[in-house]
Amino acid sequence: MKKILVTGGCGYIGGHTIVDLIQNGFDVISVDDLSRGSLKMLQGIEKITGRAVKNYKVDLCNLDDTEAIFLENPDLEGVIHFAAFKTVPESVKEPLMYFRNNLNSLINILQCAEDFDVDNFVFSSSCSVYGNPTSLPVSEDAPQAEPESPYARTKQMGEGICKDFTFFHKDFNTILLRYFNPVGAHPSAHIGEFGDFSENLVPVITKTAIGKRPQMSVFGSDYPTRDGSCVRDYIHVSDIAHAHTLALQYIIDDRNKSNCETFNLGTGEGVTVLELIAAFERVSGQKLNYKTDARRPGDVVSVYANNNKARSILGWNPQYDLDAMMDTAWRWEQALAAQKPAAVAG
Ligand code: WQD
Repeated sequence: MKKILVTGGCGYIGGHTIVDLIQNGFDVISVDDLSRGSLKMLQGIEKITGRAVKNYKVDLCNLDDTEAIFLENPDLEGVIHFAAFKTVPESVKEPLMYFRNNLNSLINILQCAEDFDVDNFVFSSSCSVYGNPTSLPVSEDAPQAEPESPYARTKQMGEGICKDFTFFHKDFNTILLRYFNPVGAHPSAHIGEFGDFSENLVPVITKTAIGKRPQMSVFGSDYPTRDGSCVRDYIHVSDIAHAHTLALQYIIDDRNKSNCETFNLGTGEGVTVLELIAAFERVSGQKLNYKTDARRPGDVVSVYANNNKARSILGWNPQYDLDAMMDTAWRWEQALAAQKPAAVAG
């Protein structure tokens, strides 16, 4: 079996991708410093796949510790790099922490890939590189706008680092995957997004519905959209995960046309905040306690993907519709609530 290193493997998208890789015949190891990720992710992965995945608890900003992983695993076929901080409001308050963590970890991983001849590399990027796109749906060749946050800038800079690195390393193959809005959870409800710190829309909705939050706000109802709330392209995390497996197989099989290719990962459908709330209420049977509030600084008005490249070149075909995204998100929140609280140390 081909062995893959997944950085950030104990995180939301990293964990779901490990499940998909295993179910498609890959052997996987994870590196995650657990500053944001959770070992509960690996427990859930084992329940789903029957496979115990090894995690290296290493800070990728430490080059020696990162190299030790590659020395111990000389048979690596590829790397999928998720490990990064990704909370937009936090990046506004702590830009240097974001540049240091997100860029140094990428540079170290690329340095090791070069030194140990691991030539297949998938980079976790984001639709936030487009800023407020001028035309919709947005295609991969759309101009990159001034980013809305330091987080988004680290994704733009990360893409540039990958492009410049592969320019002089013709035998090195990189895929840049631009996620739109990843939501939902694995249908088994054994894994999902752990922790209560996410301020993204869908976790805020499910935590409000389950009673962990008294009320939520809809940030802005006066946008130039069909109902005044922002438009996004919500995509199920398991569909995002499978795209990584397809991208890896694409470069391992040498089907790629150039050694740095970019793909949008979205459904291609724009959905407003109010439409998503309505879908959640319909699917869950829960009435959501929300109020409309002022706009949130840095929010993009409307963004959704042209996903034809990933469909036609990678053979990617998203399986989950909006109702299924809401159903899995709600069942995950209920599963979290049913878990026994961690025993309090005596
Ligand atoms: C979505 C919409 C909010 C919370 C994020 C990341 C980005 C990228 C995609 C990945 C916006 C509204 C939200 C709330 C609300 N990630 N909202 N009330 O900002 O589109 O982008 O996911 O790789 O980097 O930042 O996602 O879920 O925060 O917001 O009204 O309590 O929901 O205003 O219109 P966003 P989000």
